[in-house]
Amino acid sequence: MSTAVIASEAHPTASKTAPGPDLRALAELSVLTEASAPAVLSFVQQRFGDRAAIASSFGVEDIVLLHLASVYAPSLTVFTLDTGRLPEETHEVMELVRRRFQLRIETFAPERAAVERLESEQGYYSFRASLQARKDCCGVRKVEPLRRALAGKQAWLTGLRREQTQTRTAIDVAGWDDGFGLWKFNPLSSWTTAQTWAYVQEHSLPYNRLHDLGYPSIGCAPCTRAVKPYEDLRAGRWWWENAEHKECGLHRQP
Ligand code: ADX
Ligand code: SF4
Repeated sequence: MSTAVIASEAHPTASKTAPGPDLRALAELSVLTEASAPAVLSFVQQRFGDRAAIASSFGVEDIVLLHLASVYAPSLTVFTLDTGRLPEETHEVMELVRRRFQLRIETFAPERAAVERLESEQGYYSFRASLQARKDCCGVRKVEPLRRALAGKQAWLTGLRREQTQTRTAIDVAGWDDGFGLWKFNPLSSWTTAQTWAYVQEHSLPYNRLHDLGYPSIGCAPCTRAVKPYEDLRAGRWWWENAEHKECGLHRQP
């Protein structure tokens, strides 16, 4: 996302309720570029309320984001994409967070018929066959459910950070998401890993226990493994692919 993208026409698939990019919004967003996470969340709360949704995979960034949102943006809805292949540890932390924050977590599962077709025709590890086969699986299990999760929303928020990997070094705090046709906010985009963990410790927040076993980034179980200390934070995601391919379709590269 960039200001050039923000000022462009809305994507044809844009939700009917989304306001579309306009100059007034652009002016508001430019103020946010260097804003702190609480300032961004307060802005989203005020401008969108429950028409904004936080996407949470319950990785460490998302726990921090949910905690900050509970203070600065309590009206926002929270959703997760339960792909059907998540590790047990992720469901465990989801339940811990649900109870601790007294949260209603809107859960979006993949379309049953699409999963049945995918597995019947291509087996249970189709994503290992090729980059296209992997993207097809992410399409069924993540991207299509995300489209449903975002339907009728005007903004969404993520826990993306620039430091995570080479495909994310240029992400903005705020901008127009051309792919899904709504505003996108990344309040933690400039946070470092150390800062993120310091926040977790300061507030004694629960976190996925896989993080303690060498998994800095956690997605579906068969597509995630532990990393070596010198490796990129996302080296354990789709480790058989080149680093520049390691996005699943939820987030476009700026
Ligand atoms: S991913 O696109 O490769 O899976 P990553 O795991 O780094 O991304 O997460 C980045 C952000 O995308 C998270 O902070 C969260 O906002 C969103 N996200 C990723 N996976 C999910 C999921 N399963 N459900 C909801 N949001 C998700
Ligand atoms: Fe499929 Fe792996 Fe993508 Fe999960 S991460 S949706 S299992 S390809």
